[in-house]
Amino acid sequence: MTPADLLIVNAAEVVTCAGFSEAPARGADQSVVRIVRDGAVAIADGRILAVGASDRLRREHHVGEDQIIDAAGGIVLPGFVDCHAHLVFAGDRAVEWEQRMQGKPYLEILREGGGILSTVKKTRASAIGALVTGAVRWATACMEHGTTTLEAKSGYCLNREGELRLLDVARTVQSELPLSIVSTFLGAHVVPPEFKHDRAGYLELLDALMVEIREQQLARFVDVFCEKEAFTLDETERLLIRAKSLGFGLKLHAEQFSSSGAAALGARLGAVSVDHLEHVDDAGIAALAQAPRPPVGVLLPGVPFHLAQSDHAPARRLIDAGVPLAIATDFNPGSSFTPSIPMCIALACRTLKMTASEAVVASTINAAHALGLGAEIGSLEPGKRADVIVCDVPDHRWLGYAFGSNPVRAVVVGGERVFD
Ligand code: NIG
Ligand code: FE
Repeated sequence: MTPADLLIVNAAEVVTCAGFSEAPARGADQSVVRIVRDGAVAIADGRILAVGASDRLRREHHVGEDQIIDAAGGIVLPGFVDCHAHLVFAGDRAVEWEQRMQGKPYLEILREGGGILSTVKKTRASAIGALVTGAVRWATACMEHGTTTLEAKSGYCLNREGELRLLDVARTVQSELPLSIVSTFLGAHVVPPEFKHDRAGYLELLDALMVEIREQQLARFVDVFCEKEAFTLDETERLLIRAKSLGFGLKLHAEQFSSSGAAALGARLGAVSVDHLEHVDDAGIAALAQAPRPPVGVLLPGVPFHLAQSDHAPARRLIDAGVPLAIATDFNPGSSFTPSIPMCIALACRTLKMTASEAVVASTINAAHALGLGAEIGSLEPGKRADVIVCDVPDHRWLGYAFGSNPVRAVVVGGERVFD
């Protein structure tokens, strides 16, 4: 047997989330966390070697004291997969956030040239070094909260050079930090001011840019914000069909502020995920559930919390219909300014009425599927990449029950200790 080079022992629970590497957990399986009590994880060459009882693994794997992480009665989980995040941007939106708290609608701020467009202005004007510094800082904060794989969307420059720069920054973050970054091209975030009267021109630019991004392998996915003030359903369809023909995986910002049919479109085009879903209707839910490979519904409970809105995605109806659900932060300076998956799990339990078990599956294996990585990460099973975290809580329900403090004590990425 390969000798282990790292052992994580004495966990009250090893929460494996095992059994869903081929397809995401859905329906009754959404809550199947598959726990090993008094458990341990053995790691070799960056991969999971074994998961089992702590005393047995200690007997079977001889490692030095410095190769042991003592979970000390805490819990061990797969590293969180934050499958929806806008990592690279400049500046902040604290002023607009205060206006929003006074009741000004998010889309009204955008219509007046603020919101996403105010971050675009600042990001375009920012030097690449400052963008890297900001992205490294926030990706580090995500890691400290247990995220071991993080999506990085572009979408705050909305011109050729700028969007390429944002994807390049994501690549630099990947080379500077141990966590994995998955890049998504979101040139179709909104139409930039210089194309306000020439939407067709902007769509053409996006077409050409997708070709270039594909050639340079700068992004794995293409995402479109389908919404009033952003892109229509027809425009979204056209862009995604083009993206698919170029070989990108597809994602959508769907049904966030209004019901648009974007979820059904995602189901029809074979999107890997449809995200937000606060306003998805029954037809949208049915279309998702009946797709041959249903897209993962990525719910983002940080958004209504941050924007102080009471519209929540119908998580229970989605689960009952058989739509696999993930949870992510939607980290961005405008609609969800948190790097913390544990905070989003706590919110999901309260506002989406998900159980802690459902939320844990949602932020690990199902989130991995939302990035097309279900076979590689998201669960603790022999052969998978050793992305593992230790949380200082006595059982997994506490990830929902307690909130506002960071439960993550140790982070291992690809078998390497990052924090301990
Ligand atoms: O997912 N909805 C569109 N995009 C982001 C918000 C980005 C921003 O406000 O800067 C979202 O909520
Ligand atoms: Fe988003």
